[in-house]
Amino acid sequence: MNKHKKVYIYKGFERFWHWNQSLLIFILAITGFEIHSSYNLLGYDTAVDIHNKAAWGFIILIVFAIFWHFTTGEWKQYLPTTENLKAQLDFYLFGIFRNAPHPTKKTVLSKLNPLQRLVYLGLKILVIPIMVTTGLAYMFYRYPQGDKIEATNIQNLELVAVLHTLGAFVLLSFVVVHLYLITTGHTVTSNLKAMITGWEELEEEGQSDETKKEDAL
Ligand code: HEM
Repeated sequence: MNKHKKVYIYKGFERFWHWNQSLLIFILAITGFEIHSSYNLLGYDTAVDIHNKAAWGFIILIVFAIFWHFTTGEWKQYLPTTENLKAQLDFYLFGIFRNAPHPTKKTVLSKLNPLQRLVYLGLKILVIPIMVTTGLAYMFYRYPQGDKIEATNIQNLELVAVLHTLGAFVLLSFVVVHLYLITTGHTVTSNLKAMITGWEELEEEGQSDETKKEDAL
């Protein structure tokens, strides 16, 4: 049995950003798929109105998050590495079901396992920028033109709509996997509690890694 100690791993802004981002993505997904005609919940006009407001909230949050990442040096957490990448993947696919030891250790300076680094970096530099740019293109391209120049309108919005919807599906798939992996920490709720309180029980430095399922994507 390895020794664990409580470590302050998620700082105040980080938690504020994380929970607001989840809330906004939830609102954007619910309203976005109503706009997409997947169901009728709030009514189309209300869905568009809420989607637009949440989108601006999301953009403001992103600006603050970028500032925070660069001023604190936390951006380095997302530098990709191939070291232990396969071991981490094997762990999630097989080892986790056999109580195998966790292949990487979580520390304050390296909070993300190699798979998380890759997935989060992909979200930050690809999926979210695509959502923001296509979303803004939707807002500023479509509305000023209305239906006046119908041909150009539809031709050009098609790619925007496909990319925006594809990105929405990617984000939704991420959320499903993320929710499952949250429960695979040291205990079922330890990762969740850590993102709420900031504190997490981590294995002490210098110990061999015998704990299982410690990180969540
Ligand atoms: C800053 C980010 C975003 C902006 C600026 C934005 C903006 C927009 C706009 C203006 C529309 C078109 C509304 C209309 O047709 O009247 C739209 C549609 C949509 N949005 Fe977003 N959005 C953003 C993020 C998201 C996110 C994070 C999701 C999902 C998780 C999402 C899902 C959707 C979906 C599914 C549609 C319908 C697409 C279609 O059927 O063509 N959006 N968005």
